[in-house]
Amino acid sequence: MSQKTILRALAGETLPVPPVWMMRQAGRYLPEYRATRAQAGDFLSLCYTPDLAAEVTLQPIRRFGFDAAILFADILLLPQALGPKLWFEAGEGPRMETTTTPAQVAALRPAGAIHDTLAPVYETLRILSRELPKETTLIGFAGAPWTVVTYMIAGRGKDDQAGAHALKAADRATFEALIDRITEATILYLSAQVEAGAEVIKLFDSWAGSLKGQDFADFAVKPVARIISALKDQHPGLPVIAFPREAGPGYIGFAAATGADCVAVDNSVTPEWAAEHVQPGGCVQGNLDPRHMVTGGEALVRETRRVVDAFRNGPHIFNLGHGITPDADPANVQLMLDTIRSA
Ligand code: CP3
Repeated sequence: MSQKTILRALAGETLPVPPVWMMRQAGRYLPEYRATRAQAGDFLSLCYTPDLAAEVTLQPIRRFGFDAAILFADILLLPQALGPKLWFEAGEGPRMETTTTPAQVAALRPAGAIHDTLAPVYETLRILSRELPKETTLIGFAGAPWTVVTYMIAGRGKDDQAGAHALKAADRATFEALIDRITEATILYLSAQVEAGAEVIKLFDSWAGSLKGQDFADFAVKPVARIISALKDQHPGLPVIAFPREAGPGYIGFAAATGADCVAVDNSVTPEWAAEHVQPGGCVQGNLDPRHMVTGGEALVRETRRVVDAFRNGPHIFNLGHGITPDADPANVQLMLDTIRSA
């Protein structure tokens, strides 16, 4: 049995103190991140410079001693490796060359060609496997196909994912071909991450909540199940965390339907609800509202204890319900950790 607490929780063990990490734990709320990002020049250069990407991954581990480190990269590097141009508009977020026609889907590079572009990401993982403390678990990741194609189709983030829903309705064959291409490339990408040292894989489906009914089954469950099955064939015993954000009732049975070892839940559901309905299916990760990292105080302590207590009787990895935001106060992160570890 591994000594790493994250791996023990993922194997189904109920621990007296839950292991903890945070989505976006390497980020703009940390002065040391801002300094390294300035050194890199821009966000994509930071992602593609292994020494600097490894450095920002390690910063929150040094400062807070989280139980897991997550590879510093972005879910949009994979579609970029298939051909479409990617850039970040300051203060606005990602922009991508759009892929919406059969000809554009056909013109994407073959999945096997991604490794040329993504080699620096694998190098970041190799550096991290050497440099992380022995008790810290290294998490690799990718976007789930639905979330990735919403950016490829609209060319940017949109709150309602209207572009992707429109293509799905107007030209289902092209939409499905795009989902398939991303699914295949994601399997190769994540398998290479595991070979480079990732011990756990997380799939981020940030926009899963906008898929309803049969669409949820077809595009939030099916591609994720296919990725997990292929990865586990190639890497027996590999633990996988799935995050179908804002899935609501879709969280119930998601682990069984996809083969995931752990379901990460956002804070649109209460921890008591998730403990009752999701935790019987295996490890749950979550789900403190990231706003508490900004506001702090008594409410932070109370809600942190509430999350710990709600999940106490089953396998649990403590996390936020979504990424920590740039306006968060690092002192509040420390207060959260002290509360978890003394609960
Ligand atoms: O969690 C981590 O710290 C690991 C690294 C990571 C990043 N993005 C770094 C990043 C991970 C796992 C992601 C995932 C990601 N990227 C998702 C899924 C999770 C989620 O948040 O819903 C999505 C949708 C993206 C696409 C993306 N990248 C957006 C929409 C943005 C702009 C929003 C923002 O926060 O600025 C990014 C940029 C990005 N990715 C930043 C970081 C640290 C901020 C870039 C900066 O330093 O300016």
